[in-house]
Formats: sequence, structure tokens, C-alpha cells
Amino acid sequence: MPNDLRQLKTAPSFLHWWQGLYAPLDAPPAQGVEELKRWLAYFKLPPYETFAYVMTPQTAYNALLPAWDAWHPLLTQRLNARVPIQYLLEEAPFLGMTLVVRPPCLIPRPETELLVEAVVQRLQQNTQASTIWEVGIGTGCISVGIHHLLKGHPQNEVHYYGGDLCVHALKLAQENADTQGLAITLFESDLLAGFPPDLAPPDCIVANLPYIDRDLYSSMAVEVRDHEGHHTLFAEDEGFALIFRLIEAIHARFGEGWQGLVALEFGQGMHDGIQAKLDAHGFTHQAWISDYAGIIRHVLASRLPMTS
Ligand SMILES: C[S@@+](CC[C@H](N)C(=O)[O-])C[C@H]1O[C@@H](n2cnc3c(N)ncnc32)[C@H](O)[C@@H]1O
Repeated sequence: MPNDLRQLKTAPSFLHWWQGLYAPLDAPPAQGVEELKRWLAYFKLPPYETFAYVMTPQTAYNALLPAWDAWHPLLTQRLNARVPIQYLLEEAPFLGMTLVVRPPCLIPRPETELLVEAVVQRLQQNTQASTIWEVGIGTGCISVGIHHLLKGHPQNEVHYYGGDLCVHALKLAQENADTQGLAITLFESDLLAGFPPDLAPPDCIVANLPYIDRDLYSSMAVEVRDHEGHHTLFAEDEGFALIFRLIEAIHARFGEGWQGLVALEFGQGMHDGIQAKLDAHGFTHQAWISDYAGIIRHVLASRLPMTS
């Protein structure tokens, strides 16, 4: 436990000490505070407000002491190796749930919650049972999230199937599904190829596939590029390769008559390219969704008009 904490005088100086620890990460101060809240909750310590505004540094020191032996090595990895806190704690928040997350699987992102909410909104317009295939399931956050939001809506019965190339992802998705009470069937699969041929066509295919252009590697945060699996991040052809392959695979497998919904996440500036690809495959009815920064990040597309 650092002695310099004890030598501080006022409760706000505790926060100053903390911000000093996080300074080398070049993260916005709000992120330091956010992570402090997570650390404190993880170690079942008093809440952030108590540390930041009520306790003197001496009482904060005494309160941290029992957790410090376990916390310190993790904090060192966070500050020195810039390992994401979600990997260190093996948990990430998503739509009010706490999901298990381990490398090399992608840490669920807040914008993906918007894709889940949009799919759920469409499903709620259905009164018949639906089938969803998730391609590139990762931690399972999308399927688990849909199931979570539909709890208490028994009229929106959904059957879930998911696939991923990565066996670590399949294991993690199963773990999160089990914890959240989701029944899902998983396949090791390159896009749709591993979904058994005798499965009936789904009503919805949802995917957050890798879409980052490798040329952006050097500009990416160390936490992402050095710690998250590259097979979860990067795709060829300026990031379009896997999304385009999926649209082609859907078309090839189900033909022009398939009337289901395709729900996709993608990166900044990819909207025009994806729109052209969807148009070329007959998915001309499209709803585009922006993230919290106003950037178009998701599309729901169908060959049939969608009611708004
Ligand atoms: C961006 S991560 C998304 C994970 C999760 N769905 C989410 O939203 O957080 C992409 C996932 O696609 C998987 N993936 C990459 N290439 C794939 C392919 N050709 N076929 C199936 N899955 C693939 C990766 O292993 C990874 O789990």
C-alpha cells in the first residue's frame, strides 16, 4: 500500500492520488473515476463517493488495506501493461447484466447494446416464435442481451443458434448463456458454413463481425490492439471483407426468397459500402442506427418493408 496515500490530508486528495496513478494511461479523468468505481465494487469496498468525499486518506488507506494484496498485482497489470480492466476482473457490464469476459474474446462494447435494443424492438412486433442466428458470437452478449430484454415477454418466443470460428468464444458464450438462463445451440463455424444444412432458415441473422482496417493498427489504443484477439478486430478490404462475405453467404444459402432480417454492426465510414452491398443483394429496406456519438454503426435490413 503506497505510503504517499497516508500522507495526503483531505478526502478529495484521495481522488487526486488516484488520478495521478492513472495519468500515464492518457485516459480521460472520467474513465479513471469509472474504473475506480469498478475496482471498489469488485473488491466489495465502500462506494466511490465515500472514498472520494468522506474518508480521510488515513481512513481510506485502512479501508483499502485488506484488499490491497489482491488488488495491487491487478492494478500493476492495468497501469503498466495496460491490460483492460474487464480482462483483469473477468467481467463486463452489458445491458445491466454482468457478463464473463476473458482474452482473446472481444470485450462487449456499449454501442452493441443499441443493436440488441433495435433487434428486440423488431422481435416485439412478432407474435409468432422467431429463430435467431448470431454469427461471430464472441462472449454471447448479443444473444444473451436479446434474451435478457425479452424476459417477461412470453409472447416473443425466440430460438437461438450461434456460431464462431473461435473455440474460446464458444466456451465463453455458453458460460454466459448458462448464467443468464439462455438456451442456445452453438456451432464452430466460419460465418454460416458450420450451421447444419438441415436447420430451417432463421427469421433474423445478427452479427458484429470484425471490421477494423489493419491500417488503423498504429492509431489504436494499446488496451485494444495489444490485448484483444486480432481475429475479433480486423478484417481485410478496409474492414469490409467479413461483412460482405456474410451478406453473400446469406444470399447463397437462402436465395432471393428469404424474407428475414439482417442486423449488422460496423465501423465509422462504412455505411455507404454496406448499403451498396445490401442493395445489390435485394435487402433494400434498411433502418440505420447511430451510436451515442451520432455515427452510423448499425443496420437492420430486409427484403420486405419494415414497419417503424
Ligand atoms: C467483433 S467480435 C464480436 C463478438 C460479439 N458478438 C460482440 O458483439 O461483442 C467478432 C467475433 O467474430 C468472430 N469471427 C471472426 N471471423 C469469423 C468468421 N469468419 N466466422 C465466424 N466468426 C468469426 C470472432 O472470433 C469474434 O468472436
